[in-house]
Amino acid sequence: MKIAVAGTGYVGLVAGVCFAEVGHNVTCIDIDEEKVKLMKSGVSPIYEEDLEELMVKNYKAGRIDYSTDYKTAYKNADAIFIGVGTPELPDGSANMEYVATVARQIAENVEKDCLVVVKSTVPVGTNDKVEQFIKDSLVRDVKVEVASNPEFLAQGTAVRDTLHAARIIIGTESKEAEELLRKIYEPFHLPIVSVNRRSAEMIKYACNDFLALKISYMNDIANLCELVGADIQAVAEAMSYDDRIGNRFLNAGVGFGGSCFPKDTKALSYLAEQHGYELKTIKAAIEVNKKQKTALYRKACKRLITFKDLKVAVLGLAFKAGTDDLREAPSLENIPLLLENGADIYAYDPVAADNFKKRYPDQITYVDKPEEALKDAQVCFVFTEWNEIKNIAPGTFKELMRTPLVFDGRNLYDVKEMKSTGIEYYAIGRGGIC
Ligand code: UDX
Repeated sequence: MKIAVAGTGYVGLVAGVCFAEVGHNVTCIDIDEEKVKLMKSGVSPIYEEDLEELMVKNYKAGRIDYSTDYKTAYKNADAIFIGVGTPELPDGSANMEYVATVARQIAENVEKDCLVVVKSTVPVGTNDKVEQFIKDSLVRDVKVEVASNPEFLAQGTAVRDTLHAARIIIGTESKEAEELLRKIYEPFHLPIVSVNRRSAEMIKYACNDFLALKISYMNDIANLCELVGADIQAVAEAMSYDDRIGNRFLNAGVGFGGSCFPKDTKALSYLAEQHGYELKTIKAAIEVNKKQKTALYRKACKRLITFKDLKVAVLGLAFKAGTDDLREAPSLENIPLLLENGADIYAYDPVAADNFKKRYPDQITYVDKPEEALKDAQVCFVFTEWNEIKNIAPGTFKELMRTPLVFDGRNLYDVKEMKSTGIEYYAIGRGGIC
């Protein structure tokens, strides 16, 4: 099967590489010449486990190529997957500019019947419009259909999530489109759920927003735990035994970040408003999350009268472990507050430090090891749950820090052990500051 993939971000590149891995003939299209050169040389533009290895393997085998030449790629494709971004606009709606550009390019270049498959997360009803837009702009007498095939990969585990997805959702409006998509996904040997196009679009938002809601709920309960003297870790563990609740996404912390949850909660809320409906649960999840992002900082402000000239160790910058992505990262909310208040920040992150440096080149000292950040520090903040951070022994905080005062936004350490080591330890939902 000849497949073209538009966009080589997380969604497009990972999908393209995985299609090649199962034997399809794939061309990944991007407008950025430099990025294309990089990918041809076997370098992934994103940090993602296993991705480079599969890029190199499939490029060598001739199953995948990277190009800016969309005309040739679209002309001959059996299916064209759209994986370009739909970033959030100031009003919370999704920016459809990139999807529209690709749709136009497809309409102007396809020379045979083909299926256009939208992987990007788009507001419900968008794919009807994309199909109409392509039909209206076609320059040749060919049949083009649009299908929805939302992506559920999480950053850091993107390849695994794609090759071993819990299910593949295909949203189509014709038997032919459904059959073609089933054929494309056949070599993955995964359960396929076939629905209509609008349901497929909604499934993506419903899943992401449910998970975001689950996290905000746990953060809300964690905050209440602090007030009433309960421990959120114990509460969450007990909840997880109930398989109606499930054992994942129960971790309270510094709020959800990343490229999906913040954007998709706002987009669904906006979509509801457009239809005269108020999605109260999701609005609450957004509100709780906004406040949660600075919960740790506010806690520290209760304990300290100033950050001026204090050496502050910041452990973790990425929005979660396993990625160099900073989009909506809690660190980006807290570090400016610390800097404004005169903190002397020493930051550690095993992969996201370079990206952070682009935004804050001089105001922060970046170090290669957590120990260097902790040395002589007077306060420590933990924003990301990297193993390198999780594995720091309580004794290390005690020995290295000038005053062992730790604010942990990811609940990584044992409260009793930290306290018995002589560390003043504050986490989320496990005791507050009176
Ligand atoms: C998410 C979805 O999981 C994925 O299916 C979708 O396709 C894209 O959005 P991603 O944003 O990569 O993936 O990361 P995820 O692991 O879901 O975490 C999102 C945010 O929630 C992170 O900031 C993470 O730290 C936070 N989180 C997650 C919690 O605070 N607590 C949890 O228990 C789980």
